[in-house]
Amino acid sequence: MKIAVMGTGYVGLVTGACLADLDNEVYCVDKDKEKVQALSRGHIPIYEAGLEVLVRRGLDSLRLKFTADAPKAIRSSEIIFITVGTPSTEEGEADMSAVREVAEEIASSMDGYKVIVNKSTVPVGSTKLVEKIIQERVEGRFEFDVVSNPEFLREGTAVQDFLHPDRIVIGSDSQRAIGILTELYQPIHAPLVITDPSSAEMIKYASNAFLATKVSFINAIANICEAVGADVREVALGMGYDKRIGFEFLKSGPGFGGSCFPKDCRALIDIASKAGYHFYLLEGVMEVNREQMKLMVEKARRHLGSLRGKKIAVWGLTFKANTDDIRESPAIAIVSMLREEGAVLKVYDPIAMDKVRDVFSDITYAADPYQAVEGMELLMLLTDWDDFKWVDFKRVKELMDHPAIIDGRNCLDPLTLRRIGFDYEGVGR
Ligand code: UGA
Repeated sequence: MKIAVMGTGYVGLVTGACLADLDNEVYCVDKDKEKVQALSRGHIPIYEAGLEVLVRRGLDSLRLKFTADAPKAIRSSEIIFITVGTPSTEEGEADMSAVREVAEEIASSMDGYKVIVNKSTVPVGSTKLVEKIIQERVEGRFEFDVVSNPEFLREGTAVQDFLHPDRIVIGSDSQRAIGILTELYQPIHAPLVITDPSSAEMIKYASNAFLATKVSFINAIANICEAVGADVREVALGMGYDKRIGFEFLKSGPGFGGSCFPKDCRALIDIASKAGYHFYLLEGVMEVNREQMKLMVEKARRHLGSLRGKKIAVWGLTFKANTDDIRESPAIAIVSMLREEGAVLKVYDPIAMDKVRDVFSDITYAADPYQAVEGMELLMLLTDWDDFKWVDFKRVKELMDHPAIIDGRNCLDPLTLRRIGFDYEGVGR
């Protein structure tokens, strides 16, 4: 099928590359000409497992093309995906300006029936809004349908998530559009949830908010476990065997971050409030999350007393492992708080060092995990990169001034570390 993907951010790139790999002809459109040129040469601006291979394969087979010429891409396609960003405004609302702009662009280039598919995370009612924007400009000259088709991709496993999803949600009132999307997704074996546009939009927010709630819930349980002498990992295991609860998203840590959970929780609180409902539960989820980050700093204080002039090493800066994304990363928030309290910081991350250099200019950046701990009094592990599990901790102990570890992701073995001579502290264990 012939497809245009408007926006080559993270979702757009993955969507375009995967659909091209499923034998469709795909135009990925971006306003940024330099980015288009780089992408056309196969240079991917994000770190995402398996994506580069797919993009190169798409380019080689000519099924995937990058362009800044939106009108051409729109006219050549029957299905047009909107995959632009919807960042939070100061008030926590989703900023819809990029979505509006694309809708206007589609309307002005329309030359026949199109299915316009919204993949961006947008407030409930946005499918109707896009429909209205296009209708006002097209004035009945061409037929079209606007569909909500939220994505559930996780950074780090996005290609896998696209090709092997738990479900595909299609929100539309048009049988014609539902038929076309069902055909498009036919090679992907997953349950189809066909529903109305508003419910599809809500499914996306409710899913992210529920997963964020699980994380805050287990973090709260972790804090109680610490106080009563239980181990949250055992508790999560015992809970997870209950199929109604499941094992996933029950890992306690420094709090959730990234470009989605915090933004979408804020947006859902805003959507609820505008609809006349006070979402106390989700406000609590966000509050627990903020406190969890502060708790990591409190743990450092418990080890070192006042943090002024204290030497702290930090391993892991991204919001989770296997991504280079530091947006709303708990590690960045924690580094920022440690810095404000006067700690002397040396940090290391396997991928995101360059990005973090743009954020903090007055901390030391280490070339590897060992250099990061040299002469330091405390090591804080804040992102669970596999690299950290295979470090030689005997060497780490020799290099540190004082062998103390706060394992903010519970990914190290306390027994082994204590045997080596570390003062170990995890989260809720
Ligand atoms: C999330 C959702 O999982 C995707 O389904 C969704 O498509 C995406 O947002 C989106 O809306 O675009 P992502 O932001 O990539 O994906 O990250 P997650 O893997 O969900 O992790 C989010 C945060 O929760 C991370 O900071 C992670 O460290 C934290 N987390 C996750 C925990 O602290 N504990 C857990 O058990 C799981």
